[in-house]
Amino acid sequence: MDVMDFTMDGDEGEEEPSANTTFNNQRNHTMMQAGIVNNPTFNITQGGIHPMKKTKFSYDVSLDLPFPRNRNFTSRRTELEAIDIYFSGYAYGGAPIYAITGTGGVGKTQIALEYAYTRYAARRFTAIFWISTATEESIQGSFLEIMQQIIDEQARASWPEPFDYETIGMGLGVSGLIDGNGRISRDSDPSLIQSALFNWFKLPGNDKWLLIFDNADDLSFGVDKYFPNRGGYILVTSRRPEFSHCAEQANLDGLDEESATNLLLHLARLRSPTQNEIQQATEVVKKLGFLPLAITHAGCFIHEMNIPMKEYLRYYDNTFKEAQSKIPKVGWLYREDTAVTTWEISFAEIQKQDEQAAAILLTCGYLRCNNIPETLWGSEDGKYDPVFEIQRKFIF
Ligand SMILES: Nc1ncnc2c1ncn2[C@@H]1O[C@H](COP(=O)(O)OP(=O)(O)OP(=O)(O)O)[C@@H](O)[C@H]1O
Ligand SMILES: [Mg+2]
Repeated sequence: MDVMDFTMDGDEGEEEPSANTTFNNQRNHTMMQAGIVNNPTFNITQGGIHPMKKTKFSYDVSLDLPFPRNRNFTSRRTELEAIDIYFSGYAYGGAPIYAITGTGGVGKTQIALEYAYTRYAARRFTAIFWISTATEESIQGSFLEIMQQIIDEQARASWPEPFDYETIGMGLGVSGLIDGNGRISRDSDPSLIQSALFNWFKLPGNDKWLLIFDNADDLSFGVDKYFPNRGGYILVTSRRPEFSHCAEQANLDGLDEESATNLLLHLARLRSPTQNEIQQATEVVKKLGFLPLAITHAGCFIHEMNIPMKEYLRYYDNTFKEAQSKIPKVGWLYREDTAVTTWEISFAEIQKQDEQAAAILLTCGYLRCNNIPETLWGSEDGKYDPVFEIQRKFIF
């Protein structure tokens, strides 16, 4: 646990921190473990953290995630436990970062969400915050929301003692940015919010927070500059496989066959399936590459259209795009996309970045997925011209 290198003796904050005294006495240690520092709050506005006055300072923040827990969540026990193992065994200093990577719809966000709900309930963390990481603006927007949550929680923790938002704002380093009702101005300079927030993350004893950076797919703006570097824990979800330099990276595959089949049967509302139906369901999930997004879509489709499992196989073979495009009317947790639109969006992005890569990918889509010979991609004179070569060999 991080400790401050000076004593907080409750003298109403008049003393300057001294370098040879310590905050790490047993009583405070126990209280900090419980998420409560009883003495004192900190002023983190003027180039450091200064004791202010005797009051409770709580690091416990109620859980307020942007998505509900998925009642159909299945499997992924090993993946969830792997995060615990990494976090608890981390011994390098700084905030450990665990990145779940994998293709769109494979279930990264769902794992992060399930992890947050279950580990918060188990008191593994005192605060868990969700950051929409799609763009810099969405990250800054999330930081502002988080700061607001911390202010609200601090006001709640002060009860029944009288409090005023000016003091809270000063203590949290956002004085001047909040109004008399404790609301942060939407026009606040994002860098001020970020620096106040990062100071909160570094407060002594505040070492059980978890930040979830969800959907960190755009790496062009340097997402890691938004990672605090000490105090708690960081979980990232991303379609990009480039996190291994700064994080423990776990590449996620589809669901296991049994869980995938059960999920499909459950969503299709086949409560007592026959052996035939189980077999057909297994065939469907295999065709869908065990991708939970596509399986969820198929299950909702079967239920909504009230068709037998074998009928879906026919739909799938004849009109795959149609069968996987329509957004179900109820129970759809995945934005406005389906597996098909997710792939279309990803493909359009690749095409934008590199025409040739898109052509290779498209061509691979026509070939059996394993053992694609390297010779396909090179021309006889050794020059690399995949589009030309493949068109020449397959004439399409
Ligand atoms: N373990 C699971 N159990 C049940 N359903 C799941 C599971 N994982 C994912 N799903 C279903 O698949 C959908 C897509 O999952 P999720 O949003 O986690 O994908 P993702 O990998 O984060 O995709 P993207 O890269 O597009 O953000 C979810 O909305 C949910 O319906
Ligand atoms: Mg996601």
